[in-house]
Amino acid sequence: MPTVLVIDDNPAVATALEILFSLHDLRTLRAETPAAGLAVLDREPVDLVIQDMNFRADTTSGEDGVKLFREIHARFPDLPVILLTAWTQLETAVELVKAGAADYLAKPWDDDKMSIAVHNLLELSATRQELTRRRTDEDRRRNALAERYDLRGAVFADPAMERVIALACQVARADVPVLITGPNGAGKEKIAEIVQANSAVSAGPFVTLNCGALPSELIEAELFGADAGAYTGTTKARAGKFEAADGGTLFLDEIGNLSLNGQMKLLRVLETGRFERLGTNREQHVTVRVISATNADLRQMIRAGSFREDLYYRLNTIELHVPPLAERVGDIVPLARHFLPEGKKLAADACDALKRHAWPGNVRELKNALSRAALLATSAELRAADLGLPSAAPPTDDEPDRRTIEAALARARGVIAQAAAELGMSRQALYRRMEKLGIARE
Ligand SMILES: Nc1ncnc2c1ncn2[C@@H]1O[C@H](COP(=O)(O)OP(=O)(O)OP(=O)(O)O)[C@@H](O)[C@H]1O
Ligand SMILES: [Mg+2]
Repeated sequence: MPTVLVIDDNPAVATALEILFSLHDLRTLRAETPAAGLAVLDREPVDLVIQDMNFRADTTSGEDGVKLFREIHARFPDLPVILLTAWTQLETAVELVKAGAADYLAKPWDDDKMSIAVHNLLELSATRQELTRRRTDEDRRRNALAERYDLRGAVFADPAMERVIALACQVARADVPVLITGPNGAGKEKIAEIVQANSAVSAGPFVTLNCGALPSELIEAELFGADAGAYTGTTKARAGKFEAADGGTLFLDEIGNLSLNGQMKLLRVLETGRFERLGTNREQHVTVRVISATNADLRQMIRAGSFREDLYYRLNTIELHVPPLAERVGDIVPLARHFLPEGKKLAADACDALKRHAWPGNVRELKNALSRAALLATSAELRAADLGLPSAAPPTDDEPDRRTIEAALARARGVIAQAAAELGMSRQALYRRMEKLGIARE
């Protein structure tokens, strides 16, 4: 049963509230002085506080109430506090709401309004607690992963990415081919590094070949090596990447660019460990863990006849799919912070703009955007405008107008927390907006 603490020097107030709350299945605790109230908070779990603003019969300044609120808020920043005020102290109450109080109600209060406010705030803090709990769970899981495995400095916070990384660690030790798929710049190579670093052959060589950067004849020479004169322009015999990777890992990036002929040869090495250098018949034998990556749709290429189905099944015993950055919004801000140079910070509006952007170039685009912004920004704190993203326009135009706010307030029967929730704003933002538009509370 949720617990409400009423701090008021007038016992009649606490009694009236206690009766009201008992109808709503709430437990009420009471304290008549600020000190007694704080003592209860130290002693017992409380879900919500309702506090008076004056604790001496001869004062109406609200000074004691301000002090009490600040003390509670400092010690229990997440605890919602409703202020009970006299009409003469509305200004003070509004100030305190801006400073973090949950809401205020003027005495004598309206029972309905009080119940709705209490109900909403309890629901809100339950949701918040659930979120915090989930975050703590995620942090714990992430830390456990980082303790057990070498994550190659990968930064992630989104559950979608955590799953990919956990799977990469899990399959790393098994000697099976891994195919990493995902769009440009999403972090496929990062995942390949994680698989390699946690594999049984992590001490062996880690050789990479970008099949996208070379014409197909050269790819085969690169992969398998060539004897002098094997093709035009070769004057010296050279070892291929397979030989170089013997006893270790070969990372084949952009595997979709390999010619059908090259695919056939690759399949043979994967199945037998055997191959010949171009221009020779001398068979060589290697033991190599192959990790491949592509941003192409290999299944589509199979249908089109440009990728061998048997090779595909050989390569993708395990497929690790790295989702586009836009599908793991939880990673955006942590990655952005990671890419910021020491001493630079992100303003809240910059974080919002980063989360709203679609990132077609994924992590690489994010990294470039931040380097550029950090270079051009004139202050240590980067604002949305410094990022130069298309969606970085200031959101002032999106703010609700007078009619929308008044309608929401009417529906919420004046309960700010509820109107704010409906408008998708924080209470503080709603108060600021109301003040700006000159909308009165009642
Ligand atoms: N989770 C991450 N944590 C830290 N850095 C990352 C992460 N993911 C990607 N990066 C960095 O972002 C850049 C792009 O990542 P990566 O090269 O792994 O992408 P990719 O999917 O291989 O791209 P492409 O398709 O262009 O080959 C690299 O500099 C990489 O180090
Ligand atoms: Mg890559």
